[in-house]
Amino acid sequence: MLPTDLVQYKKKSQKIIALTAWDSISGSIAENADVDLVLVGDSLAMVCLGYKSTLPLTLENIIHHTNAVSRGFKKKFEEQPLLVADMPFLTYQCGEDKAVEFAGKIIQNTYAKAVKVEGAEPEIQKVISRLVRMGIPVMGHLGLTPQSYLNLGLKKQGKSLESQEKIRREASILEKLGCFSIVLEHIPEPLAKELQSSLTIPTIGIGAGNYCDGQVRVTADLLGLNDDQPPFCQPIIQGKKLLKDKLKEWVTSQRLN
Ligand code: KIV
Repeated sequence: MLPTDLVQYKKKSQKIIALTAWDSISGSIAENADVDLVLVGDSLAMVCLGYKSTLPLTLENIIHHTNAVSRGFKKKFEEQPLLVADMPFLTYQCGEDKAVEFAGKIIQNTYAKAVKVEGAEPEIQKVISRLVRMGIPVMGHLGLTPQSYLNLGLKKQGKSLESQEKIRREASILEKLGCFSIVLEHIPEPLAKELQSSLTIPTIGIGAGNYCDGQVRVTADLLGLNDDQPPFCQPIIQGKKLLKDKLKEWVTSQRLN
């Protein structure tokens, strides 16, 4: 599947389901669940590497983990989910040349067919435009953008009319610049609903209600593997507790034998 195929999903009103992955096991689990898209999100900084935020993640980290994820895929190449990699902090904030070089390295050294970048400030718009023109598909990301948490916090965005208007304007710009889809994170459902109908590219929501063209979740949140759960993701199992309890039981049973 190519990134542009996602636009066909929207035309056919076919829901896009995406999960994050960070290593070969999570990649294999996500592929097995028959998702359309696997995102090697920079949330792997917290989920897998133990950092407190996404900011310490490097280009080398994302390349390393994207390759681990694709090694976990077992389906024939053509049937595998679309693989998208996040561009880490500082790989696209320092000008178009550097962004093309770093996104190019991700595309050249992994099986990712697209990159995701956060925000739509004027500098980021130039970067997106250049990446798209250089043949690198870009997924946008608006609303809560964790790489800007020092300025914006990790709270819901689009609460004020001014902030809603900014998100509206930026979404329309991202579409015009050639993004093939936009992740909408933690924004009010009515705003996400409005964007879903006004944009021709798919909106993929996380904490943005039920009306987006698709949904993405951080797999570790869904499986209850993290200590800190975001308010918009109910775990489907208490994975961490289950694994801890079961391993403790096993260790205890071994001591008794
Ligand atoms: O890094 C990530 O996991 C993400 C999702 C929240 C969409 O960007």
